[in-house]
Amino acid sequence: MSDYPDDWAFLDQGDSLLDHVMTIMTEAFDPFYCEAWNRHQCSSIMGLPGVYGLVVIINKKPAGFLLSRTVFDECELLLLAVRPEFRRKGVAAALLKKLIEKAKSEDTKYIHLEVREKNPALNLYYHIGFREVGRRINYYKSLNGDLYNAITLSLIVI
Ligand SMILES: CC(C)(COP(=O)(O)OP(=O)(O)OC[C@H]1O[C@@H](n2cnc3c(N)ncnc32)[C@H](O)[C@@H]1OP(=O)(O)O)[C@@H](O)C(=O)NCCC(=O)NCCS
Repeated sequence: MSDYPDDWAFLDQGDSLLDHVMTIMTEAFDPFYCEAWNRHQCSSIMGLPGVYGLVVIINKKPAGFLLSRTVFDECELLLLAVRPEFRRKGVAAALLKKLIEKAKSEDTKYIHLEVREKNPALNLYYHIGFREVGRRINYYKSLNGDLYNAITLSLIVI
């Protein structure tokens, strides 16, 4: 029996993957923070070795995705996003759980990520077990030029 509701499906390959990612991307990121990637950026990276894209489809609608890149035994979570209508249902947590399972199966030792300070996503990452390992001061720039620190988080895969 699946750990997830019957109308959830996970997709990590196929021609529609990029379209699903872009549908979610357009709705999920607040344009003010300039954090969304465009289609060209996504398609370029999705073709590279070690890059993994995973989409959750709920009731036939793309609901959330993650993109990661693994080099040797370290994985970097590049992007994670869920469309507003599907939030707080465990979609992001499910995506991260799948990524951690994959990392375990491939003997990946660490998963790293960077997130803007004060992004509510920090709660999610702490909830999953990520811990802060560093900061980059004034790393992100918003539309009006305001600067925001980046928090670097890591999870030891065990
Ligand atoms: C951050 C984001 C991916 C969370 O997706 P989600 O599917 O709603 O998250 P989940 O339902 O799996 O949350 C699991 C837990 O994480 C924490 N959490 C998630 N979103 C939270 C929020 N906005 N505020 C506080 N805690 C939050 C909670 O502990 C939550 O458990 P609960 O709902 O039982 O309290 C989503 O809000 C999003 O797409 N944001 C915009 C894009 C972004 O900032 N991505 C991350 C940086 S790349």
